[in-house]
Amino acid sequence: MPASPIRRLAPLAEAATRRGIRVLHLNIGQPDLETPSCMREQLALIDDKVLEYSPSNGTPQFIASLQSYYRKRVGVALDPGEIIATTGGSEAILFALMACANPGDGLVVVEPYYANYKAFATMAGLDLVPVTSRGRDGFHIPSRQVWDRQLAMHPRPRVVILCNPNNPTGTVYSRQELEMVAGICRERDLFLISDEVYREFVYDGLSVASALGLGEHEQRVIVVDSLSKRYSACGIRLGCLVTRNREVYDASSKMAQGRLSPPGLAQRIATAAQGLGDEYFDGVLEEYQRRRDILFQGLSSIPGAFLLKPEGAFYCVARLPIDDADHFAAWLLTDFQSAGRTVMVAPASGFYASQLGRQEVRIAYVLNETDLRQAVEVLREAVEAYPGRTPIEHGSISDSW
Ligand SMILES: Cc1ncc(COP(=O)(O)O)c(C=O)c1O
Repeated sequence: MPASPIRRLAPLAEAATRRGIRVLHLNIGQPDLETPSCMREQLALIDDKVLEYSPSNGTPQFIASLQSYYRKRVGVALDPGEIIATTGGSEAILFALMACANPGDGLVVVEPYYANYKAFATMAGLDLVPVTSRGRDGFHIPSRQVWDRQLAMHPRPRVVILCNPNNPTGTVYSRQELEMVAGICRERDLFLISDEVYREFVYDGLSVASALGLGEHEQRVIVVDSLSKRYSACGIRLGCLVTRNREVYDASSKMAQGRLSPPGLAQRIATAAQGLGDEYFDGVLEEYQRRRDILFQGLSSIPGAFLLKPEGAFYCVARLPIDDADHFAAWLLTDFQSAGRTVMVAPASGFYASQLGRQEVRIAYVLNETDLRQAVEVLREAVEAYPGRTPIEHGSISDSW
């Protein structure tokens, strides 16, 4: 099993904290906004004398609340028999992979990819087949030639997983990009898993197309979703798998029976979120867009740093003038501080299956405005002080990126 590149540096951060250094976390996507009060009030009301299992596929009330969410926010009508409640989006990814592929099959990922896909692929016995997206293209979907070349490298590619809006890059794929990938899946008879856990986080008035709207491809589509980011409720451990493919649904449903039940209390809390209207989502979006702007302006002004403006989610991948991001990320925690503060970033190498990303870091902007501004300044000082600093390339964006 691969170690999580996001959590791997945690012991160094703990040691820095013990030395009295304040570590500003730019490394992990744990939103800091309050979980909506209607959900917290529902939690406080729970006074069951027996904490029971719930139905394997989810309670009727929770499934109905998801149907209502998809109708209102995604514009898609779903039957209750097309949704399975899961322990976070994480379990939905695992169910989807195990339902669609056999050990030894290839899982096609656009890299840099959400690092835990590698962990899930390992659990399901699948090989990663990376299709590389480039920073200079804003990490958008690579050309058809790149897909053809990479797919030819594996004897049995079986599933493509797309994360849209994307973690780690913050890219939002257009409907055309989604259709292009769906077209490749049709030609080669592949399943398409669409990880849409950041659906709510799309900036500058852009919108994101759900794979649930890919009518003609619906039989090969599985959508993975989560309440973690949508309601700033990572600890609730609730998500879902959505598919119109009966066989995939039935296989996933049997896995759901095998693990007995998704979190029961969580579904009661989640059902309370039904009352939240557009104003809730608009407020959250405004806050994150402000943070995105602060981060983007700050990072872009660091000499030698390259990134395009992230369009969604709450991450970006930036290239820095450093020799090795793994070393840099550790050094920040072991050797650097500015007025008693340092920052923690995720080295991007763990988000690539190929040997790329050595000079890149993934940054999450889930800090409040004041901390975020501070974190960017600390990072600027750190880049200047770092012994493995590399010469700065000129031009607006690096050609080699
Ligand atoms: C892209 C992506 N997919 C899935 C998940 C899983 O989320 P959870 O299991 O909390 O629902 C995450 C969590 O960070 C994520 O970033």
